[in-house]
Amino acid sequence: MTVEVITRITDILDGKKTGEKVKLRGWIYRTRSSGNIVFIVLRNSDGIIQATIKKGNLPENEFEDAEKALIESSIEIEGIVKEDKRAPGGHEIQVTNFRVIHFAEVFPITKDQSPEFLLDNRHLWLRSQKLTSVFKIRSTVVGAIHKFFREQGFYEFDAPILQPNQCEGGSTLFEVKYYDTKTYLSQSWQLYAEAAIFSLEKIYNMGPTFRAERSKTSRHLSEFWMAEMEVAWAHLDDVIQIAKDEVRFILHEVLDKNKRELDFLKRDREKLQPIAETEFPTITYREALKILKEKENMDVPWGKDLRTIEENKLMKHFETPVVVTNYPLEAMAFYKPPDPKDPETALCFDMIAPDGYGEIIGGSERSLDIEYMKRRLREMGEKIENYEWYFDLRKYGSVPHAGYGLGVERLIAWICGLDNIKDAIPFPRTMTRYKP
Ligand code: 4AD
Ligand code: MG
Repeated sequence: MTVEVITRITDILDGKKTGEKVKLRGWIYRTRSSGNIVFIVLRNSDGIIQATIKKGNLPENEFEDAEKALIESSIEIEGIVKEDKRAPGGHEIQVTNFRVIHFAEVFPITKDQSPEFLLDNRHLWLRSQKLTSVFKIRSTVVGAIHKFFREQGFYEFDAPILQPNQCEGGSTLFEVKYYDTKTYLSQSWQLYAEAAIFSLEKIYNMGPTFRAERSKTSRHLSEFWMAEMEVAWAHLDDVIQIAKDEVRFILHEVLDKNKRELDFLKRDREKLQPIAETEFPTITYREALKILKEKENMDVPWGKDLRTIEENKLMKHFETPVVVTNYPLEAMAFYKPPDPKDPETALCFDMIAPDGYGEIIGGSERSLDIEYMKRRLREMGEKIENYEWYFDLRKYGSVPHAGYGLGVERLIAWICGLDNIKDAIPFPRTMTRYKP
């Protein structure tokens, strides 16, 4: 079998093929005809390119097919690359052969449709230039996360998705019928990771995570991907530094590999680049309250988690993501220990993104105190016996350890400058949507 040479649109747009004969495959993105000429914009995973089909330049039946073929028909064309200032990307193809692989029916998506319609037709809307750009960036982000941890000697470790316990509070658990009993979809990889650090020491994972969020915000998904890490012998400051390095590493990778996509999404690269070069600040929750009080005249009562409105006000004073440590202990998950230097607060942190994208990372040191955790769990109405296996981890060579989880879609939404987190994941699941 001979391998056909298919030219990449990116090479044509970069001017590497001008004057040459090329062959391309793709789908019809736009089409219009006037008399003896058909203008088609061909779309494929590389981007879009204009193709001009002139009667007489190709067999008659192929010209007729070009006139007839509707948007999203799959096609294969051959032709000569010409520079043309009027064409999108400054180049076009003068077609000498036009073959239709499949004549599409009338495509249901046209201009100016509602977000709900586009979500109902997500399986088709995936083809849009916008989502294609976002998912190329998503691919870079996911690749960068694996690269970052592997280069630092972390092992990838997998936890079960079906879990009998909560990690982040029972109210957002998804219950699953499990034979004659019930279990839950994973809220976090963390508790199992804490078992594995005793063998692998430095581990990470990225996988689907589930939260039955009762909030319909532009930041919450019911199913999202979390990239988590856990390290033995580590304290809070150690993992905060890794979190900052990780986010900057990811930004570098995207800025390096996805210039076209960022430009298409109108994401200002000049704004992202300096963030990738800057060390992010760390403040405490107390300091955050002080900034809100002094600069925003906002009184946040001690003990409250920062809500969207407070986070956004706080972030007005920063250009880069900010790490906030030492949130009030009682509002925190059961495994977060008190800070001996400020026992009303926990040894924990969030990283908050600029521009209203909110918390992108949450992490902490882990409590080693079985009695403390039992008390916290009892207060939450949990069955202590379900956690005995977890307490075992504090009985046999316990070591200080810490870790965090990064919300992959939150990060992508910020990097891409999206209005809603739903566009950061291919098929979003929210409180009101689980289809298609
Ligand atoms: O802060 P969270 O709840 O932390 C944990 O689950 C820890 N067990 C992680 C760990 O220490 N290993 O979640 C971590 C991150 C958040 O900062 C946020 O970015 C993202 O996960 N996240 C969500 N993203 C989208 N939709 C939701 N409903 C999310 N809930 C959390
Ligand atoms: Mg959190």
